[in-house]
Amino acid sequence: MSPLIVTSLARRLKGDLPPSPPHPAIAQTIGGRRWPYRYLEHCQAVCGDTFVLHPLDRPPMVFLCDPQDIRAVLTGDPVELHPGAGGHVIAPLIGDRSFMLLEEQEHLSGRRAIHPAFHKQIVAEQTATLEDIVERAVASWPLDQPIALTPRIRALTLQVILRIIFSDQPDATLADLHGRLVQMLAISDSLILQGPRLRRLPYWRGLWRRFLKHRAAVDDLIHRLISDRRISGSGDHGDLLDVLLSAETVNGAPMPEREIRDNLMSMILAGHETTTGELAWAFQLLAHYPDRQRRLAEELDRDAGADYLHATVHETLRHKPVFVFAIPRNVVAPVRIGDYTYDPPVQLAACTYLLHHHPDLYPQPHEFRPERFLGSGAQTRTWLPWGGGRKHCLGRHFALLEVQTVLRHVLATRRVLPAGSHIERPRWRSAILVPHSGGRVILRARPMPSR
Ligand code: HEM
Repeated sequence: MSPLIVTSLARRLKGDLPPSPPHPAIAQTIGGRRWPYRYLEHCQAVCGDTFVLHPLDRPPMVFLCDPQDIRAVLTGDPVELHPGAGGHVIAPLIGDRSFMLLEEQEHLSGRRAIHPAFHKQIVAEQTATLEDIVERAVASWPLDQPIALTPRIRALTLQVILRIIFSDQPDATLADLHGRLVQMLAISDSLILQGPRLRRLPYWRGLWRRFLKHRAAVDDLIHRLISDRRISGSGDHGDLLDVLLSAETVNGAPMPEREIRDNLMSMILAGHETTTGELAWAFQLLAHYPDRQRRLAEELDRDAGADYLHATVHETLRHKPVFVFAIPRNVVAPVRIGDYTYDPPVQLAACTYLLHHHPDLYPQPHEFRPERFLGSGAQTRTWLPWGGGRKHCLGRHFALLEVQTVLRHVLATRRVLPAGSHIERPRWRSAILVPHSGGRVILRARPMPSR
């Protein structure tokens, strides 16, 4: 039996953790994987606002839903709580020298290097690039038949982030990189990304080998693009590659090539998977709530500002946050939060999904109702789709711009109809939740409004 399972069992018996649902670890693992929203809601109903799950092969994971506890986790002392380790699931994709997986000063130094490239003002300058790519992509989406939107949105968002990172590369080179990335990232849909032990089983071994081959192909091209830029002289493009080539480590040395690669991969991944998932959810919700969609389309037709569009995006992020919980924080020194003192090894998960569905905070939480965000806007204590503290989403301004741009372009000319009787249930893709069947809808041309 693995040492983690033994520790987990011992701690369940000792009772120094919050309550846990009365299911064996295997059932808890399957529940969390197969029905993430419903299973977490069930655990909260049975155990209250703080509970622990014992996933197989992982340390116990404490879920916190109370706003004060969530704040304590997100803003916790990085010497006691390590968020880098909590992102281990995506390590094979982004590399273990990514700033996202580092701790304390190393994390901060990488984050500070990248931050300027995603400053609100710099992001605003990317509007024209974004509009151009979105317009062409949306025009190519077929009408009047059920289509899976997620892969189409992913193609669009990946194209955008690559153009922003490697601003000087010809379209053909970026298309080549795009193709290689799509092949490599297909692994994100598989269980083996979450379960390293599975990679050794005969059933999965071939899949893992193919992933390594695709990753090597991506790395070859990325290293070539980095060296091309070094030769042509960096500094003039003002894109993320320039920023990383001039970045320094905590010791003041130039950032090593391996770290540049890992940080580029981090931004490629974080910069498109999340917005893809969130947009796919937005279209699912709008398709199944036609009156909300009509109101949004009317606002666009009348050119009457963007209040309802902002409210729609806020409500989508509340209702279907792609991250069910912020990046888990690994407890590395005893820490007291709420009624418990946590000792290692434990992970703390600030559960934004349950926070966003607390009926005291959001009446009728399962209703998609953008109106709740009209006028008052979002409360920073109770609306946390971007996480918080030192891991607060670096790309949130960019994400908002991208999500709003895509919604505007689609709804200005199309109606979005449901392709099934229900909003799709969620499924995991690496560390986020996306619609289970590809975000299927039917797009129909909409007559232009008469002015
Ligand atoms: C709707 C889309 C997005 C959502 C919902 C989202 C949400 C989040 C969340 C919840 C976190 C973790 C925060 C925490 O644990 O406290 C995060 C981190 C991060 N996000 Fe986003 N994100 C989105 C889009 C983006 C985009 C477009 C980019 C880049 C262009 C980006 C870059 C990052 C990075 C780099 C981190 C890690 C920061 C760190 O390690 O310090 N995100 N995001």
